[in-house]
Amino acid sequence: MRKKSSNIFILSVILLLMACMKTGNKKELAIINKAPSVFIKEKVNNLLSQMTLEEKIGQMNQYNGFWDVTGPSPKDGDAAKKYEHLKKGWVGSMLNVRGVKNIRAVQKIAIEDTRLGIPLIIGFDVIHGYKTLSPIPLAEAASWDLDAIKKSAQMAAEEAASAGINWTFAPMVDISRDARWGRAMEGAGEDPYLGSKIAIARVEGFQGDDLSKHHTIVACAKHFAGYGFSESGRDYNTVDIGTSTLYNIVFPPFQATIDAGVKTFMNSFNELNGIPATGNTYLQRDILKEKWNFDGFVVSDWGSMTEMIAHGHAKDLKHAAEISANAGSDMDMESYAYVNELANLVREGKVKENLIDDAARRILTVKFELGLFEDPYKYLDEKREKETIGNQKFHKASLEMAKKSIVLLKNKKNLLPLKKKGQKIALIGALATDKTSPLGNWRIAAEDNSAVSVLEGMQKYKGNKLTYSKGADVSIGKTDFITEVKLNVSDKSGFKKAIAVAKKADVVVMVLGEHGFQSGEGRSRTELGLPGVQQELLETVFKVNKNIVLVLNNGRPLTINWADKNIPAIVEAWQLGSQSGNAIAEVLYGDYNPSGKLPMSFPRNVGQIPIYYNYKNTGRPNLPGPDVVFWSHYQDEKNTPLYPFGYGLSYTTFRYSNLKTTMLDKKVKVSFDLTNTGHLKGKEVAQLYVRDLVASITRPVRELKGFELVELKSKETKKIEFTLTNKELGFYNNSGKFIVEPGSFKIFIGGSSTTSLETQVELK
Ligand code: NOJ
Repeated sequence: MRKKSSNIFILSVILLLMACMKTGNKKELAIINKAPSVFIKEKVNNLLSQMTLEEKIGQMNQYNGFWDVTGPSPKDGDAAKKYEHLKKGWVGSMLNVRGVKNIRAVQKIAIEDTRLGIPLIIGFDVIHGYKTLSPIPLAEAASWDLDAIKKSAQMAAEEAASAGINWTFAPMVDISRDARWGRAMEGAGEDPYLGSKIAIARVEGFQGDDLSKHHTIVACAKHFAGYGFSESGRDYNTVDIGTSTLYNIVFPPFQATIDAGVKTFMNSFNELNGIPATGNTYLQRDILKEKWNFDGFVVSDWGSMTEMIAHGHAKDLKHAAEISANAGSDMDMESYAYVNELANLVREGKVKENLIDDAARRILTVKFELGLFEDPYKYLDEKREKETIGNQKFHKASLEMAKKSIVLLKNKKNLLPLKKKGQKIALIGALATDKTSPLGNWRIAAEDNSAVSVLEGMQKYKGNKLTYSKGADVSIGKTDFITEVKLNVSDKSGFKKAIAVAKKADVVVMVLGEHGFQSGEGRSRTELGLPGVQQELLETVFKVNKNIVLVLNNGRPLTINWADKNIPAIVEAWQLGSQSGNAIAEVLYGDYNPSGKLPMSFPRNVGQIPIYYNYKNTGRPNLPGPDVVFWSHYQDEKNTPLYPFGYGLSYTTFRYSNLKTTMLDKKVKVSFDLTNTGHLKGKEVAQLYVRDLVASITRPVRELKGFELVELKSKETKKIEFTLTNKELGFYNNSGKFIVEPGSFKIFIGGSSTTSLETQVELK
């Protein structure tokens, strides 16, 4: 009976659809678009059939707003033209418009002034928070805590959505092995397995399980593909990687986001095999849309269509539009290529109209899924915005995430945790009082000076005498999102006071590293030491007091050999967001036992880069005899990193034992015991690595294939189990086919990628 009446309803809607197709009536269209029982596919088809070519191309056009800028501003990007295009229905999306009031203003034009009233989708770089910042993504990756990372994305989505945003350009899932690259801060580090798990957590966090809710937003996997492999770590540089790396290292996190239901992809600035990603048919059509069946849409990166001219791939903007549309870039971010050129290209037969239909269909589908046709103002509620932005629950979650992201790199003489009473503590370093730097580089909506500084965090512990001295600046001049930051600090006039306070202290806490705007987009470096005179400051203070705890603030691995050799305690505290100082203080005072593990290797020396744990063995991995030179090594440095991937200490200690394997039909069950051997409760990231000893395509010396964050009371032991399936034991061959080859596999278990506890299994 019920089925019958719903059939009648669907039939009447179809009749209405047909009637409307004849009349093209905006009101009737709106009724259909809002009808919950009509399938999105039908609604999209119906809408498409009403649209002119220009209106369809309009959906493929994205403009930056009128306020914030996150790339070089194009010459013809004037506001008057944008308004005019908005009114004509030639704009499908805007980025960098934020706040309910501003977004309502542009959405109102799209709904009320355009012929068909198609809502805009509003994009923004919600990378690790909106107004309340969580740790930078690389720091969050150091937590290896997938639930916490998912929650962090959820929180970011909720806060941003309350400000009217419904699409984030995150997660960045680019794998990077190069700390010189400033954008390493935005990813999950060097490993495709960890990177894939984190990519899934972030997509699920942003998108939730129902996109049509007003607190969930569309995610975007970026930058497709290879951007993290920019030659010599210089941003936007050429990428030249082999097929095996592309399939086994670069692609997996992108594929994982598709499994997680990601709705959009962003292409990248770089070329791959001589073809810029934006104009790359192999990447966007053959792989993404055909092989992986991706049914969402692809947005270009900022101006990346225009940039194909500089690449030497397109002769002018029209040519760039032709190449991009044919290659599968569905939306043009700030190149003005589609809006100006695409209609003519279709008329000339250079771009087939069915490709325009396909792109518009993909974009409209996502808008329907967001529920924007049912209510284009659903994200625009001033009251909700006011109640939500900066809400304490975001700060609480940000603090938890920040503590989980901290990595204890060294702790000799039991300097940490600090005693809570009767101590004279000197706090040194400009970053110790900086309330902007901890927000990192992607923080366009956050207020300057809004983070809790280390000084403020430590002042809450009142049992000690705390004295602060700056010592030296980290950067000079303007620090903001678009300005080149100056690294050449030379002023040492603050050293004297720093020496004086250090002399009188029982313990010196030095907060050194990079300013938040010294990593990020366009912020590559060739030297990875402490910028400016901070190294000199550290060595000078060390001469008068050796009890130093070095707290690092940075957006990428740094080369800190001297510190590692001389400084007894080192804490990696990245850029931890709004609650940075509180998190650092809780870890320093032992109210939180650190459990972070490095998601990226720390080189000893820039010359070792790219350096990563999952390297290939080569044909000459070992010293052939005493003093014989013919092996793969350096004359002046070890091959190994200073701190390896997966490494991190705790205030307690752990023991791995009883490693066992059981073969179950094409699966390997691995079990072992993990014991907390110390006196404090603590968490440990138990890691499993695999080595396929002989393969048709050589395999890395180790590959992470499992991990678990385990909490243990003092002296407690837990049995941990992993099951390895084909998914973990196979790899992509050079035709992009996933294969599993029988043979011997080594399995390693432990607390870092250099663990020595191993066993071997035979796969039949
Ligand atoms: C350029 C960056 O590469 C990209 O990641 C970002 O989302 C866009 N600009 C928009 O700001």
